[in-house]
Parts: sequence; C-alpha cells; structure tokens
Amino acid sequence: MLEVRGGNPLGGTVQVRGAKNLVPKAMVASLLGETPSVLRGVPQIRDVEIVTGLLELHGVRVTPGVDGQQSDGELHLDPSDMAQGSIVDIDAHAGSSRIPILFCGPLLHSLGQAFIPDLGGCHIGDRPINFHLDVLRQFGAEVDKTSGGIMLTTRGRLQGTKVELPFPSVGATEQVLLTAVRAEGVTELRNAAIEPEIMDLIALLQKMGAIITVDTDRVVRIEGVDTLRGFIHRALPDRNETASWASAALATGGDIFVEGASQPELITFLNVFRRIGGEFEVEETGIRFRHPGGRLTSFALETDVHPGFMTDWQQPLVVAMTQAEGLSIIHETVYENRFGFTHALGEMGAQIQLYRECLGGTPCRFGRRNYQHSAVVSGPTELTGTRIDVPDLRGGFSHLIAALAARGTSQVHGIELINRGYENFLDKLLGLGAEVAA
Ligand code: EPZ
Repeated sequence: MLEVRGGNPLGGTVQVRGAKNLVPKAMVASLLGETPSVLRGVPQIRDVEIVTGLLELHGVRVTPGVDGQQSDGELHLDPSDMAQGSIVDIDAHAGSSRIPILFCGPLLHSLGQAFIPDLGGCHIGDRPINFHLDVLRQFGAEVDKTSGGIMLTTRGRLQGTKVELPFPSVGATEQVLLTAVRAEGVTELRNAAIEPEIMDLIALLQKMGAIITVDTDRVVRIEGVDTLRGFIHRALPDRNETASWASAALATGGDIFVEGASQPELITFLNVFRRIGGEFEVEETGIRFRHPGGRLTSFALETDVHPGFMTDWQQPLVVAMTQAEGLSIIHETVYENRFGFTHALGEMGAQIQLYRECLGGTPCRFGRRNYQHSAVVSGPTELTGTRIDVPDLRGGFSHLIAALAARGTSQVHGIELINRGYENFLDKLLGLGAEVAA
C-alpha cells in the first residue's frame, strides 16, 4: 500500500527508457537468431522479468550487459541451447503476462512445438487471441486446446500465407511478423498495425536479415528466409510512460522534464496536450511538460490505432480532464471496457458519466452493444483523497495521478500492478517532490 498526500505540483526530471510494448517482443525475437543478440535501453519492469524467465525456461541465456548490472539497460540473449521448456514451469511462470502468445512462431520454427498457458493481462476487455490462433493455423500449425493452455505443433516447415486482420491488432501483427520471417515463401498481411513499436520490431528483424516491406495501405509483406542472425538494437523510448508523466504535470499543475522522450512518436498526444492548455518544449535530450497556470480547456477525444490518439494515453489524461473547465468527451474505440478506472475517480469527487453510445466521431465496433465505451467528464471538480484499489496498469497510474492532484491523503492498494510497466515509479515520484510513503 502506498500512502499519497496530494495537492503539491510535481516538478523535476524523470527518465524514460525502452518501450514496455517493444522490449519484451524484441527479447522474443532473439529466439529467431542463430547467434546471440544485444538489446539496449531495457527498463527494469515486471514484464521484462517475466519474459527473461520464460526465455531461460527454453534454454536461452539472458545476461545483463556491459558492467554485469542491468542498470545500464543492456541485455545479452543467447539462444544457442534453446530447448522446449516444461509445460508446468511455463504455466507457473507466465503469470499475468500476454507475451507468451508471441513465443509460438519462433518455437515452432526451432522446435516444431510450443505450449502457451492461458493468458492474463489487464482487465480492459476480454483480450481474445482468436486472430493469433487463426494466423498460426494459416501458417500450417496444429493448434490444440489443452487444460492449462494451448499446445501447438508443426510437422514440416511453416508456410507463408495471406492474412487480413479484422482489426489492426498490434499483437496479431507481431504474431505474423515473428512467424513469417522464417516461414517458406512470402506472407502478405493486410490491415496491419503500424504502431511505432511495430516499426521498431520490423527494424530489429531487418537487422537480423529479414526482408519486410510496409506499403502505404498498411499491407505488410514478409519474404521468409532460412536463417536469421542475432541483432544489436536500442529499443525506442516509451511514449506511453512519457504521456503518463505529461498528464501528471497537467493534473497537478506541475512542470516535468521527461528525459529520453521522443517527439515523432508523440505528435498526436502533443497536439491534444497543447489544446487542453498545457505547454511543452522539445529539447535535444527529452521533452518538458508544464501547466502554465490558469484554467485547462475541455475537449472531445477519440482513441484510435496509430497514428490516432493511443488508447493507453487516455486513462492518465482523463485525470487532467477532471480539472478542465466544461465538458470533455472521450470515445474509446480500441478496447470495449477501458473506463473501469473512472469509478475510483468518481469516489474522489470527479464528475464522470459513462455511455454505451459512440460519443464523438465515427461509430465504432462497440456501438449499440452493451459496452460503456464513451465518457463525459465535467470539470473542474476538486478531488479528495480516499482508499484506491489499482485496477490495471494504466488505470493504476491514473489513480496515482488523481491521488497526487487530490486534497488530503489517499491509500493506494495494488501498486505492484504499476511495476509491470513503469520503471522505478516510486523513486521517480519522490524525485518529483511527491509526498508518498510505501
Ligand atoms: C498492445 O496490446 C499493447 N500491449 C496495449 O498496451 C495497447 O493498448 C494495444 O496494443 C493497442 O495499441 C502490449 O504491447 C504488451 P491489440 P494487444 O491486439 O496487442 C482485439 C498497455 O497498457 N483483438 O491491438 O493485446 C482486442 O480485443 C497495454 O501497455 C481481438 O479481438 O492489443 C482489442 O479490442 C494495454 N482478437 C483490439 O483487438 C485478437 O486475437 C486491440 O488489441 C487480438 C486482439
């Protein structure tokens, strides 16, 4: 439990390193190489620990980089002795991570089989994996449901195929990339996701020897090759963590320099940040975010796949919306159930109403189904501290921001969920002058 005394503006510098939504995938990609890989900018977060353990279960040697400490964020990954892990261990180890599903392609190529435990992940929708399994079957894998998960096998070499995704799913796109690069022949993927983390994974696969093209209509073509070598790669910075700290600056009336932040991946976020009334300066080594004083402006927002407004950015920003003047509208079009976190904000005094309608721009997949996937926030409202139970990673961070913006003290329970994706967030909060005590 974390005791948080709110009401003080956050000020100072935080550092962001490699993106949580790329680094674990890059680690899995090392399985495809005939030689060891080196990954740089690796943050010390739970998701990295889980994938490290899963790789070691499959015989991969994962060792910290240069000075033997992982503090400088360098990992050496040597897959030379890769072998099938024991099902019991994999099941026990995977925990709540969803990354195990991305082991399928590489393990099928090298071992002819893969076991995937039933997956966890944040409670922001039922997080299906139907696209993944359909794709793997199209490559020629046998997919059998077992009691604790899914067993996949392949008799011959996986075959390149033509795939069209019903929705530009990031995970399913990664599934295709990690499987197609060593399949026989060419794979064509239509309606691919092209998030910055996807493009960084493509860059890393290209370094390994893969041949991947991305067309203007988001059709990705992969020419399968027989062998790939290890990569040396620095992960792109975490745009979602950057946006979280920017929202914290806005919600607490603060001034935060995010060292390592990169503007190109944040263009859409920065436009919204400016429209609300926030100020930012892009510098060589990062981006400075601050609340210039005065009122924040309410606005209408629709989340979307890249280059739209990223769904992971809306939860922390909703807290800033509670301090904006007037009515703000958010239409969440990527996940059907990503406003659960607003319940706790309501208990702190926020005025937030959820709707089943698609409020805002274009009707989405969830319209007229029973999903409360639009929110209207009326502000400004004063927030007061209370007991908070963290629901998921991004919702949890938004609860922390709310507690920091609130008058009085909050008791935040379940903060280990935040450890999954925010490196050293307690030290960072203390460094920004937050009055928190574990
Ligand atoms: C990745 O999740 C990210 N996680 C998410 O970040 C991010 O919100 C999401 O992409 C969208 O950008 C990681 O990279 C580890 P999807 P992913 O497949 O790949 C539906 C965070 O906070 N779908 O693009 O699981 C799905 O239900 C996390 O860092 C299917 O229907 O997301 C959802 O509605 C949260 N069937 C939509 O696609 C499938 O087989 C988008 O999911 C797969 C997905």
